Amino acid sequence: MPILKTARLTDDGKAISLMFENRDILRFHGIWLRDNARDPETISSLNGQKLITLADIPEELFMSEALVKNDTLSITFMPENKTVSYPAGWLLSNCYDQKNEEERVELWASELGDAIPTVEYSAYQKNDEILQNWLSDFCRLGFARLINGPTRPQSLLNVIRRFGYVRETNYGIWFDVRSEVKPVNLAYTGLGLQAHTDNPYRDPVPTLQLLYCLENTVEGGESLLVDGFMAAARLRENSTEAFRLLSSYNTRFAYEGEEGVALRSKRPMIELDPEGKVIAVRFNNRSCAPLVDIPFEEMPAYYDAYRAFGKIIDDPEMAIKFKLEAGECFLVDNTRILHARTEFSGTGKRWLQGCYADKDGLLSRLNALEMKKGEAA
Ligand code: FE2
Repeated sequence: MPILKTARLTDDGKAISLMFENRDILRFHGIWLRDNARDPETISSLNGQKLITLADIPEELFMSEALVKNDTLSITFMPENKTVSYPAGWLLSNCYDQKNEEERVELWASELGDAIPTVEYSAYQKNDEILQNWLSDFCRLGFARLINGPTRPQSLLNVIRRFGYVRETNYGIWFDVRSEVKPVNLAYTGLGLQAHTDNPYRDPVPTLQLLYCLENTVEGGESLLVDGFMAAARLRENSTEAFRLLSSYNTRFAYEGEEGVALRSKRPMIELDPEGKVIAVRFNNRSCAPLVDIPFEEMPAYYDAYRAFGKIIDDPEMAIKFKLEAGECFLVDNTRILHARTEFSGTGKRWLQGCYADKDGLLSRLNALEMKKGEAA
């Protein structure tokens, strides 16, 4: 890490310019530095939580002195006459003057093929490093798989408990996805399902879904995954207008299939952050409610855009397929990855158990494992 060489106050002490050994110059504002001071009156040494509000910092704040010594910056803030120190490493890792690209996401299509992140169930349960790598692969690709796990019902709960918490819904803590093809009924075909995200009628949507296979002796019945962020990127490439329509108008989703349940949501099919980056995809033909948020003039074009997005999602070039065997499971980021089941037929049984969970616990676990590893290094 480059060493901090000099500090120069600018803008009447409202800002500071830091020069590093490698000649990189980073600028910070006095108000930002004061708000993020690391002293025990500003931030709790017990839990790292902030002890002041912005109202506790004088509006007329300026920096009167800046000193660099031993790779540490010391600043005196006026009118408080308060001196605070900042390690250079902390300033570098929290700077906002240079674009901070902390991009874990890697878009994929069918070429991903055999590179599906896969780990043995027992290693996942026992070894923190293996868990960390699996969670990290999950964040990069939006899904990950475990193999050679137990075939006991409810084993899926132990997969989630390793990093977070199950989200209980009206479907229960977990639910069965069970289909039987009886020999007397050979003509019966298990219908394939179009790739979809689960439960878009919830707000907030469950951000993780786990599907765990306990039995799968049918022909077909493969799992299929599509990267929704890749689909959105392709739509944007093909037609900025279609992308605009799906990202700027709300879609409605609803589920009222049980007594006492009336789940409804109003969200865009492609959700963007303030920088225009895709942060969530919702796509599920079975739970679409009448669209009422699109102006009359734009409705035909909206349907064209919806159709175009569906075509990209249905394109075999977009999907990876694998058959879940008994004792195998996969976890998907339900804000990004669409999942489907291919048709199945013949004799046999297909029994999966599913549950929902959320990414906050998963990301917290991953961050904590990475911090622990960083400290040990
Ligand atoms: Fe589903």
